[in-house]
Amino acid sequence: MKLSLSFAALVAGANAVFSPLNDVDTRSLDEIYAAAKKENGTLQVFWGGDAGAAGDEVRSSFAKRFPDIKFNLTVELSKYHDNQIDRGWYEGKHVADVAWLQTTHNYPRWKQEGKLVNYKPPTFNDILNGEKDFDGAWMAASLFGFGQMVYDSSKINASEVPTDYASITDPKFKGKLILTYPNDDDAIAYLFSLIIGRYGYDWLYALAKNDV
Ligand SMILES: *[C@@H]1O[C@H](CO)[C@@H](O)[C@H](O)[C@H]1NC(C)=O
Ligand SMILES: *[C@@H]1O[C@H](CO)[C@@H](O)[C@H](O)[C@H]1NC(C)=O
Ligand SMILES: *[C@@H]1O[C@H](CO)[C@@H](O)[C@H](O)[C@H]1NC(C)=O
Repeated sequence: MKLSLSFAALVAGANAVFSPLNDVDTRSLDEIYAAAKKENGTLQVFWGGDAGAAGDEVRSSFAKRFPDIKFNLTVELSKYHDNQIDRGWYEGKHVADVAWLQTTHNYPRWKQEGKLVNYKPPTFNDILNGEKDFDGAWMAASLFGFGQMVYDSSKINASEVPTDYASITDPKFKGKLILTYPNDDDAIAYLFSLIIGRYGYDWLYALAKNDV
């Protein structure tokens, strides 16, 4: 939440004062807020995630901290947001000021196509080199692990929960597994590619037999 607030706010300020920035922004949040207040548009933010109540806390926190900035946070799956961005571009529409998405493969292309404004927030030098563009066209705002098992403790003891993906092909789990479709999105496809890289396609065929 904290990350998303400061990230969004910083980029908001970028429009008025900066043309593409080469230096790391050293202004305080209050200074950026003061600069942003001189603009009159709505800050359009695309945030990748499951729609619904997600985002309400960010919306209310943003409104409290930056009451004079119009803020439009749209939470939707990244794979839909990225299409909106590309389609908007072809239609000559500006759809997002900030796009915080899981579909990270788009960002180098968007940079090449001239769709991104360079910006380096105060923490730019703290971000790992592999997680940012050196011109500031894009950067990671958060990193997290992915692919954990979630279980119903009334159905299985913690000690019996598999600790590796190889074990979920065990017939004792037949009919008891719920998984995202392997081709649901880029992140799931990547996870499956790692697992298959380790255990081979036989693992996938055995999994399919487990009535997932
Ligand atoms: C924002 O302000 C500029 C000039 O300051 C004006 O031309 C423009 O129409 C305003 N836009 C809106 C949406 O109020
Ligand atoms: C907020 O964003 C959505 C999605 O892009 C858009 O449809 C809507 O018109 C925007 N609303 C405002 C007030 O800018
Ligand atoms: C968990 O383990 C306890 C102790 O061995 C056993 O009594 C219980 O039935 C187990 N629960 C499940 C859901 O397997």
